[in-house]
Amino acid sequence: MIKIIDKEFVPYLSEEEIKDRVKEMAAEISAAYEGKKPLLVSVLNGSFIFTADLIRTIDTPIEVTFIRVASYEALQTTGKVKEILGLKENVFDRDILILEDIVDTGTTLEHLLDAFKDLGTKSIKVATLLHKPDAQEKAEKPDFIGFKIPDKFVVGYGLDYEGMGRELKEIYQLR
Ligand code: IMP
Repeated sequence: MIKIIDKEFVPYLSEEEIKDRVKEMAAEISAAYEGKKPLLVSVLNGSFIFTADLIRTIDTPIEVTFIRVASYEALQTTGKVKEILGLKENVFDRDILILEDIVDTGTTLEHLLDAFKDLGTKSIKVATLLHKPDAQEKAEKPDFIGFKIPDKFVVGYGLDYEGMGRELKEIYQLR
C-alpha cells in the first residue's frame, strides 16, 4: 500500500502486465495502420508515459504530436472542457489516432472527436490505456483499449492524484 497526499492506494496493474498489454496494443495499431503513416496525437499530461512506451513498439511509420486539454479536477469530473492547445500540425485529410491515458466519462474524448472532425480529418480513432466502462456517459467508444477497469480512481504510469504519482511504474487503485 502507498499513501499519496491524504489517500491510500493499493497495487492494481503491475509493471509487467502493463508492458505486455502495451506491446499487444502496439501490434494491433501497427497492423491497422500499415502503410498509412498516421499522426498519433497524445493528450498531455497523463498519456506521456503510455505514448513513449507504445510508440517504441509500433513497427510501422508514424508521426507523433502532443496536445493538451483538461476536464478533470482532483477526484471528480467537472464537466468543463477546455480547448485543444498546442496542435501545430495540419490534420486535414490525415489518419489521426488519439492516445489517451484513461477514458472515464468520455467528456474529453467527445470534445476531441468533435474538434478533429471539424478539421476535416480522413479518419479518427482512439487508443486508451485504461477505460472505465461503468463511468462512460457518452456514446463514443475507444477503438483500442488496454484494460477495462472498474469505476475507481487510479494513479501511476502517467496518471496523477493532485499532480502526484505520475512517476510510479505500476498502476495503483484507491483503497
Ligand atoms: P473524462 O473526460 O471524464 O473521460 O476524463 C478524462 C481525464 O480525466 C483523463 O484524461 C484523466 O486525466 C482524468 N482521469 C479520469 N479518471 C482518472 C483516474 O482514475 N485517475 C487519474 N486521472 C483520471
